[in-house]
Amino acid sequence: MSQIYLDNAATSWPKPESVYRAVEDTMRQVGAPSGRAVYAAAGAANDIVEKTRQSVAGLINASSKNQVVFTANATDALSTAILGLLKPGDHAITSVADHNSILRPLMHLQQTGVITLTIVDCDDTGRVSASDIEKAIDDKTRLVAITHASNVTGTIQPVAAIGDICKKRDVRFLVDAAQSIGHISIDVEQIGCDMLAATGHKGLLGPMGTGVLYLSESIVDHVSPLRFGGTGSQHADATQPTQMPKKFEAGSLNVPAIAGLGEGVKFVHSEVGEAMQQHSDDLMKELREGLTSINGVKIFGPVEETSRTGVISISINGFDSQTAAGILDVEFEIQIRSGFHCAPLMHKRLGTDKDGLIRFSPGPFNTSVDIEFAVGAVAEIAGNA
Ligand code: ALA
Repeated sequence: MSQIYLDNAATSWPKPESVYRAVEDTMRQVGAPSGRAVYAAAGAANDIVEKTRQSVAGLINASSKNQVVFTANATDALSTAILGLLKPGDHAITSVADHNSILRPLMHLQQTGVITLTIVDCDDTGRVSASDIEKAIDDKTRLVAITHASNVTGTIQPVAAIGDICKKRDVRFLVDAAQSIGHISIDVEQIGCDMLAATGHKGLLGPMGTGVLYLSESIVDHVSPLRFGGTGSQHADATQPTQMPKKFEAGSLNVPAIAGLGEGVKFVHSEVGEAMQQHSDDLMKELREGLTSINGVKIFGPVEETSRTGVISISINGFDSQTAAGILDVEFEIQIRSGFHCAPLMHKRLGTDKDGLIRFSPGPFNTSVDIEFAVGAVAEIAGNA
C-alpha cells in the first residue's frame, strides 16, 4: 500500500479535480491581476475573485460579499483582526485551547505593554466554558478571541453561547474557524461574532495561500489594516480606501488560488461534496472505535462524534509522538502530524507538553481501508497487533 495521507487538518489533500483545473486554467488563460485594469482579462480575473467572495459569503451567511476579505491564510486573517482592533489599554480574552495564530499576536501585544490578557482554562476534553469567559470580562475587555474547533482535539467550542455573552457585555468577538469551516456549518449571525477568520486550504479543499476574514458592518471602522498599498480602487488617491473589502486587500490578490478556492467551496456545497463529508465523518468514527480498542493507546478530546471536528489525537504508551510518527511514516507510509501542533498551552493543559500527541485527520478522499490500515499500524507500534 502506498502513502496514506491523514493530515488533512494541516492541509487537505488531494483536492477535487475541479480545484486543480481552476488553478491551472486561471494561470494559463486569465493571467491578469484583478481589479487593476480595463482590458477584458482583468475583468475576468475580477469576476473570479468576486464570484468566490460571493460563495464564501453565502457559506458563512455574511450580510454581503463585501464583508469578506481575502487573506493569505487564517493566520494572516487573525493577525489582521487582532492587531487591527486592539488599542493601548485594552484587555483581551482567549483560551489555553487556542492555536499560536491567536496566542502569538495577543502575547506580542501583552509583552509590549499594549494590552492585558486573560487566558481561560478548558476542561479535560479541551472544551472552554462560556461562563469562564464571562467571568474574565472586565470594563477594559475589548476582544474575546476563540477557536471554533481545536486543531489538537477537534473539540467544538460553544461559540454561540460566547457570542451571546459578548453581545450582552459589549465586547467584540473573533472566531477562528480554521478547523471547522467545510466540516460543520457556520453562520456568523447565529454565532454572533464580529469577525471570523478561516482558511481556504483545509475543509474548503482549496489551494494553500488562501484565507478569509469576515468583518461585520459594525466593526469595520474600528479595525485598521495591517497592509497598506495599491488596491486598484481609488487609485488617484494616495490614502488607503476605507471601503470594504479593499480596505484590507492591498497588493495583488492570489487570483489562481482564489479560483481554486471557488471550486473547493462549490464542491463542498455539492451533493457529492456533502456525501463525502458524511463519509469523512464516518471514517472518524471508525478511526476512534479502532483506536479505542488498542491497549496502551490513549485518546484525547471528546468522546461524542458530534462534539469534535475531523481530528483525533492519541498517545501510545512508551513512545514520544515524533518517534511514533517517524515509524508510521517510514514503516507504514502513513502521514500524520505529531508534536505540539502550534498549540503549546493546550498540550500543557492535557499534560502532553513533553511527548506531544499523534494526530490523525482523515479527509473526504480517504477510505475505510486506509483507516483499517492505520489502526493496524498503531496496534503494531503499541505492541498488541
Ligand atoms: N494549524 C495547522 C495544523 O494544525 C497547520 O496542522
